[in-house]
Amino acid sequence: MEFHVYESARAACEAAGVLLAAQITRKGDSVLGLATGSTPIPAYEMLVQWYERGVIDFDRIRTFNLDEYVGIDHKNPLSYHAFMQEHLFGKVNLRAENVHLPSGRSAMAGAAYDEKIRSAGGIDIQLLGIGRNGHIGFNEPAEEFTYGTHIVTLAKDTIEANARFFRSADEVPRQAISMGIGNIMAAKCVVLVATGENKAEAVYNTIRGPITPHVPASILQLHPCCVILADREASRLMRE
Ligand code: F6R
Repeated sequence: MEFHVYESARAACEAAGVLLAAQITRKGDSVLGLATGSTPIPAYEMLVQWYERGVIDFDRIRTFNLDEYVGIDHKNPLSYHAFMQEHLFGKVNLRAENVHLPSGRSAMAGAAYDEKIRSAGGIDIQLLGIGRNGHIGFNEPAEEFTYGTHIVTLAKDTIEANARFFRSADEVPRQAISMGIGNIMAAKCVVLVATGENKAEAVYNTIRGPITPHVPASILQLHPCCVILADREASRLMRE
């Protein structure tokens, strides 16, 4: 695992943008695994700027998102479909047929998403945020690691954390469909960004703790190419 600390949250997130841009530069038909939430926004802003300046081109890039809420229409501004449209898809020359987000409630929908990832040749670089409880891609703490794309029941902590996007915690969907840990681990390279004091424990447990499904991100200790980018607050416990 590589671990890099930045003075500001913005710098940590922009560094993730650098790694994604490098991947796009080196392989024009790369498969990107993308995340939503507050953390990746500066990385997407950087990608949009480099696209506008002609530095990177998305014409042949394929993307797979980690997750989507269940029970929210894709046109709803709070859906992850809408989030991606607003922050990246609507601003660069990605082809509509090349962008993918999981959706649906059935096991079939999950298996079909896994198959799409496989037939694209697998994910070259997977961007991740991290939940306060150590979740990645909404794979919540559990007794076992999950493998493929599946329906998850969001943890109370995640519902509380995401209530900031909704009018109240009551409106946060209780379920999401998520690419499982297996798909994340199969990515050729993983870039996890963690910012803010409330991620410090999750960062410490991910890097220094035991590998356990109770801290889903801890499995990244076994990934052959995992880069963790954190700001000073999120890395506080690593210095003690
Ligand atoms: C979203 C996702 C989640 C978030 C996590 C952190 O696609 O996969 O695991 O990365 O909940 O969210 P933020 O960045 O809003 O703190």
